[in-house]
Amino acid sequence: MKFFIDTADLAQIKEANDLGILDGVTTNPSLMAKVGISGEAAVTKHYIDICEMVDGDISAEVVSTDFDGIVAEGKKLAALHKNIVVKVPMIKDGIKAIKWFTDNGIRTNCTLIFSAGQAILAAKAGATYVSPFIGRIDDTGWDGLELIHQIRQIYSIQGYKSEILAASIRYPNHIIKCAEAGADVCTCPLDSILGLLKHPLTDSGLAKFLEDAKKFA
Ligand code: E4P
Repeated sequence: MKFFIDTADLAQIKEANDLGILDGVTTNPSLMAKVGISGEAAVTKHYIDICEMVDGDISAEVVSTDFDGIVAEGKKLAALHKNIVVKVPMIKDGIKAIKWFTDNGIRTNCTLIFSAGQAILAAKAGATYVSPFIGRIDDTGWDGLELIHQIRQIYSIQGYKSEILAASIRYPNHIIKCAEAGADVCTCPLDSILGLLKHPLTDSGLAKFLEDAKKFA
């Protein structure tokens, strides 16, 4: 399973990248706003900064909702850097645009996936990635991980090539469960990635080893 970081914060992207395990980055307009990036010029510069920092796929989200607008915006984003993946919302014009991007060699990430039916349509349109939002599904009292299992089963049976990009991750165990469910990619906040490092027995075991090592120093 590939690891993407789900943030527009350059310091956090650098910290995850320095671990050596990062395969890409996802952003969205809310994550951009959170780090104070607004306006086309600033957003464009920020995507280029991220692309120069991480050698992997970088999702850049369109904000148009009509076919012509999505295509125009996506073409501009894709031209910024070879690693840009155009992130398109799961709406009718979004699906038409994903098919257009597929036919024109531009890679896409279909975002805001909350059902297996949406995941089927995105795959049929040729999306490179589909992004089910598991945390937001959990927030509504349903089971986000169940959707990952369902999409994995459908894609495997049908031979769909889109990669399942599990998004809206809330905690480290989500990452483990996504790996078990066969997600191709998990995009995670930095805290959830770092949370995978932690175990109290690792801490106490290391403390004991270091204490005993002093006896031989
Ligand atoms: C990533 O592609 C999504 O935009 C992101 O994971 C959404 O996460 P949230 O539900 O925490 O906002």
